[in-house]
Amino acid sequence: MKPRRLPRAKPHLPEEDVAVLLEEFGEILRSGRLTRGLHLDRFEREFAACAGVKYAVGLSSGTAPLEIALRFWQVEGREVIVPTNTFVASANAVLLAGGIPVLADISPACLSSSCAQIEARLTPRTRGVMVVHLAGIIPPEIAEVRQLCRERGLFLLEDAAHAHGASWRGRPAGSLGDAAGFSFFPTKVITCGEGGMLTTDDLQLADFARSYRCHGLDGQSGELVRLGNNYRLPELSAALGVKQLARLEEFVGERNCLAAHYLERLARMPGLGLFPPLADQVHSYYKFPVLLPSGCDRQQLAQCLQEEFGVETGSAYWPPCHHHPLYCDRFPPALFPMAEDLLPRILTLPLFVGLEEADIDWVCSVLQGVLARRGD
Ligand SMILES: Cc1ncc(COP(=O)(O)O)c(C=O)c1O
Repeated sequence: MKPRRLPRAKPHLPEEDVAVLLEEFGEILRSGRLTRGLHLDRFEREFAACAGVKYAVGLSSGTAPLEIALRFWQVEGREVIVPTNTFVASANAVLLAGGIPVLADISPACLSSSCAQIEARLTPRTRGVMVVHLAGIIPPEIAEVRQLCRERGLFLLEDAAHAHGASWRGRPAGSLGDAAGFSFFPTKVITCGEGGMLTTDDLQLADFARSYRCHGLDGQSGELVRLGNNYRLPELSAALGVKQLARLEEFVGERNCLAAHYLERLARMPGLGLFPPLADQVHSYYKFPVLLPSGCDRQQLAQCLQEEFGVETGSAYWPPCHHHPLYCDRFPPALFPMAEDLLPRILTLPLFVGLEEADIDWVCSVLQGVLARRGD
């Protein structure tokens, strides 16, 4: 079988959008208004409507909304619970805001923390909880986590970097906690190159974020009222964001169709754990994870798929946060029995808009062949 060169992820920028964008970019460049302009206003307005919230604030990365919300809730010296299975940015945001990340184990249902796993990490110093919609799956116990946070007076922050267009019981990701952060990094469901968005119904938090992204200047008086930073989203990026957002439903629909094809093909392969869409929710399928059989060496398998067949795969996430040198001293592996068992065996398969069913058939057959070689 000849290699096909399939990347793990790539942005989808339809030619017709590129043509319109090139004109818009020309207008933006000629206008001289390269930041804080009409494209950002429009992106924020339309994103808020799509996420089902009152306010959306455009920012320079997906880490920025997390850091800003955590600063607003004054986490300095307080603990924030974060699932260990996430990109390091989630836990780092807590440190950036002066807080103490407390990593929690994960459940096989959603590869993120269950309500009981979160509850097990609560202490009198806990200030709030960050949930991560890993791979685009909203944790099925989100209502219980919300209730727990309400009862204990804790904030609930969604890291929705993987979950544009996902929803739970008809409620979009971004509207399920007190605030949420999205990323527009190029691998994400929609992109604007680099960028992020904070969503919330809290006017004070939205005002704080607008001030924080502009060094801490007050939007009305122009006075410096807090120490902030430059976390602005440029106009060129916002214009791209508007075009991508208009495609969100189409992209998520396409990702779900491709995932359904994978699920159908892979169901015929014994020994693989799959993550079909959960009841009550729309999955964004930012990633397509499969759980490899026990004893299977993911890294070796990934190397073989890449080198022999040109199929790029990934992990979600290995190493998890508690293995990184910055965190490992405080969090021994024994605290994370599920993560230790599952995450070394999670392999993510190529999934992006533009992938074809024939590509999926190819990925599944080479995966089957490689697994058969080692007798699984
Ligand atoms: C779960 C998660 N949170 C936060 C981020 C941070 O986003 P950014 O790289 O845009 O700062 C990412 C980015 O990959 C992510 O995957």
